[in-house]
Amino acid sequence: MLRGARRGRRSVERRQRHDLDDAVLHRLVLDEDVRPVETPVDARELIDDRVRGEERAGVRHGVAADLAEVAEDDVAAITDRREAVRRDVRLAADRVRGGQRHAGEEQGAAVLVHFELGAAEGVVAEDRRALDGREVRASRIDVIDAGEPFPIFTDQTEEFLLDRRHLAIRSQESVAIFRVKAELLRAFREFFDREEVVEMTPPVLTGNAAEGGAEAFQFDYFGRPGYLSQTAQLYLEALLFPHERVYALTPSFRAEKSRTPRHLTEFLNLEVELAWCDFAVLLEFIERMMVDVLHAVAERRGKELKSLGRPPEELLAIRAPFERIRYSEAIDRLAKLGFPVHFGSDLGTAEERALTLESKNPLFVTHYPRELKAFYMLQSRDDPRTVEASDLLGPEGYGEIVGASCRETEIARLEERIGQIGARVEEYQWYLDLRRHGNVPHAGFGLGVERVLRWMLRREHIRDTTPFPRTPSRHLP
Ligand code: 4AD
Ligand code: MG
Repeated sequence: MLRGARRGRRSVERRQRHDLDDAVLHRLVLDEDVRPVETPVDARELIDDRVRGEERAGVRHGVAADLAEVAEDDVAAITDRREAVRRDVRLAADRVRGGQRHAGEEQGAAVLVHFELGAAEGVVAEDRRALDGREVRASRIDVIDAGEPFPIFTDQTEEFLLDRRHLAIRSQESVAIFRVKAELLRAFREFFDREEVVEMTPPVLTGNAAEGGAEAFQFDYFGRPGYLSQTAQLYLEALLFPHERVYALTPSFRAEKSRTPRHLTEFLNLEVELAWCDFAVLLEFIERMMVDVLHAVAERRGKELKSLGRPPEELLAIRAPFERIRYSEAIDRLAKLGFPVHFGSDLGTAEERALTLESKNPLFVTHYPRELKAFYMLQSRDDPRTVEASDLLGPEGYGEIVGASCRETEIARLEERIGQIGARVEEYQWYLDLRRHGNVPHAGFGLGVERVLRWMLRREHIRDTTPFPRTPSRHLP
């Protein structure tokens, strides 16, 4: 028998009560018996009692079922009661529902659950309605703040939810998504630690638009143009010389107006730069990294993955090597599928989708035409029309998740390409210095964290994978 097993006592104990619109601290003692329910109490009766402010004697062994469910099923039905008290109960229910933190507790264990603005004491019991099949049967709930009813329900429009994103992120779905995201970032960091790749902290405020002007967010930097970083790559290349193997996880900003399900204006770019690395070694590194982190997340967050529609076994089935095809081969395949493409065509969403729609493994597309790619990519020595670059396409049609290349070593070629993208060579002098003062062959890549998650979690839209998505039409909340 657990603590305080006196039975039959039931009271509504208000320690303090202000206007409900203010913060309210009150304690609802529903039952002091914290044993598992033997004779479940009718939840509606309990609420009725509370509404009348009455104490009820004679109920044995009872706890008030889980107040979360009490409210969902019954509160709405009690329409003739005072609004204030209904609101109270619903609030407590919302808090419990929104913030259950009892995973891992054994069935039958007595627990004290802390949720936002409250705490519940009770017993863990089986409940098939709960996400993990267990629920706390609350014997006491302390409400620390009574607010207005929670505005998020089922079947609300996407826009409504995005406008209330600061509250919608309390949903079980969001909780699962961001647990997986945290695990993914942890897995990357663990992988880099093992591979002795050192974490760096490049700037986000910059004086040149690294990847070219059109897609950079420009702002006034004390009278001079400043840009939000599109990539940390140029800084990582500088940091490579003292550290040899470096990475950074930084937000990247793209002023692309593209409203697609895979573009954000702010995303997390995980970028790596490796010295003494040729193209084959680069692709092997990416492949090893992907398999490693996907397996780690599948093993540690199986429950969340499953609840989000991605059985972890599907990630565990992903193995090296990934198929590698040249861009020219991709063009052939696409032409056979009826796409009007030729050597030089950019591969957009539809083309990338078609290339992996049927596959379960990611696909490397290599040797893109030079003009399609960034100025710093190494011109292929065997086919000068192309660069030693690869995009890794996610399986199941999800498209580019990683952009990788060996870096151009010759200053003249870099200057030529900088001119072609319409940038001013003077602004890149510091970058060209890296080639002047003792260059080594190196290569690197950037991985879009939200792109990877979109695929891993089978999300229709990339915005689901970031708590406060930034798109051309939204930077609030
Ligand atoms: O391919 P990107 O533009 O490559 C670079 O930024 C290189 N400088 C990286 C490097 O080599 N260090 O971007 C890298 C990845 C893409 O493969 C894609 O996954 C993701 O970032 N990405 C985006 N994700 C969300 N929204 C956008 N608008 C994105 N643009 C690129
Ligand atoms: Mg790219």
